[in-house]
Amino acid sequence: MTLTANSYAAKDAAYHAHGQTNWRAHEENGALVMERGDGIYVYDETGKEYIEGMSGLWCASLGFSNQRLIDAGSAQLNKLPYYHTFNHKSSTPTAELAEKLISMAPDNMSRVIFNCSGSEAVDTAIKMVRFYHNAIGKPLKKKVIGRINAYHGTTIASASLCGLPPMHNWFDLPMEGVLHTDCPHHYRFGLEGESEEEFATRIAGNLETLIIEEGPETIGAMFAEPIIGAGGVIIPPATYFDKIQPILRKYDILLVSDEVICGFGRTGNMWGCQTYDMTPDIITCAKALTASYIPMSATILSDKVYQAIADGSNELGVFSHGFTYGGHPVAAAVGLETLKIYEEMDLVSVVRGLTPAFQKVLHSFQDHPLVGECRSVGMVGAIELVQNKDTKANFDPAAKVGATLARNGEKHGVIVRAMKGDAIAMCPPFIITEEQIGMMKTRLDAAFDDTYKWAKSEGLVG
Ligand SMILES: Cc1ncc(COP(=O)(O)O)c(C=O)c1O
Repeated sequence: MTLTANSYAAKDAAYHAHGQTNWRAHEENGALVMERGDGIYVYDETGKEYIEGMSGLWCASLGFSNQRLIDAGSAQLNKLPYYHTFNHKSSTPTAELAEKLISMAPDNMSRVIFNCSGSEAVDTAIKMVRFYHNAIGKPLKKKVIGRINAYHGTTIASASLCGLPPMHNWFDLPMEGVLHTDCPHHYRFGLEGESEEEFATRIAGNLETLIIEEGPETIGAMFAEPIIGAGGVIIPPATYFDKIQPILRKYDILLVSDEVICGFGRTGNMWGCQTYDMTPDIITCAKALTASYIPMSATILSDKVYQAIADGSNELGVFSHGFTYGGHPVAAAVGLETLKIYEEMDLVSVVRGLTPAFQKVLHSFQDHPLVGECRSVGMVGAIELVQNKDTKANFDPAAKVGATLARNGEKHGVIVRAMKGDAIAMCPPFIITEEQIGMMKTRLDAAFDDTYKWAKSEGLVG
């Protein structure tokens, strides 16, 4: 591909190093550079329109032009553009957002600490797990359990928790003290003839074995996304969390629900943990907290965890953690307005109202020759492409079938995301209409047709 001279794509290719990107390919191809947004649409530097079927990175929950959020941020910039949260300081929107967030959180939650990104929220949670166990006199209980294919972020600790090899390779991760248990994906890891419940029983048993082998007295917490997002939109099998939670309770292991994607309505309840009857001790959230108009994340603590840490900080004289921009007043003002909008629009009802139309479109691809599994909950889902529907054999990753489909989507004006195993994710903004969901389907049909023709011409399918 030749980059147009003086285009933003060319500047980006020449000067900008990207995350989650092949740097050499980027030098050659540049970026798809967006210039503006309107509702569910974004427009690139040439003016081409795209339906943002991924809400960016699962996050722009209210689309790309919400005037109330823009005004809330501008007003706060005029009033108090910065303040911090160290040494008993705060700002008015930050205090108000904390109150609002706790009022919306599950009943056992009592305090929130703000950070800037999902990774920081997870990192903070890992530090809380350590501090908590020191505070309650169990200093050995420090290991944390993540799951294969899970995604929790990119800092040293949160990337360690991920169960995705590219997050570890050449970064010398995972760090010490991080364990991984099974991926709860029945389609991929269920045995021949095994029901979802039987699969859940088997992998819960594996979790207990891991805990016993490692020594329950050394394990502090398990981190779980209610649905695994960036690792493939993996929906847990029936009864999974019902079986996992008693095991964690039996061995006094905290449960951290990583709601960076699932929080704020995505799964059809305000919190993903409510969709799966989880009772977490800590919740991490970000993304839709501010509709992603400005970075902010939160680590929400149950009263049990809060009280122990408060006692510990009192004993030490300080809780020495926090970020310069944690609880930033402009982010807090935007977050507060976002939560007010969710309340006024009755977010959960809106999501539940849109879900049948969204899921109908997503599952309409089940019979397509390239498709192995369509899976969804609420307003998030994935379509997993396979080389052979009967054997569920994946394509050779080098063939880049998923990436080709995503690129064909862009050609036809819809943005979806190709993930590991050629799973194509969709996670549209909550302001999408049924008519726009229909448009998404038309554009996706064209992308699937092109990809199928290409795969045939490459000899990838029969
Ligand atoms: C479940 C989960 N946790 C943590 C993160 C990390 O968030 P960030 O990219 O804001 O650091 C993500 C990002 O997608 C996520 O999906």
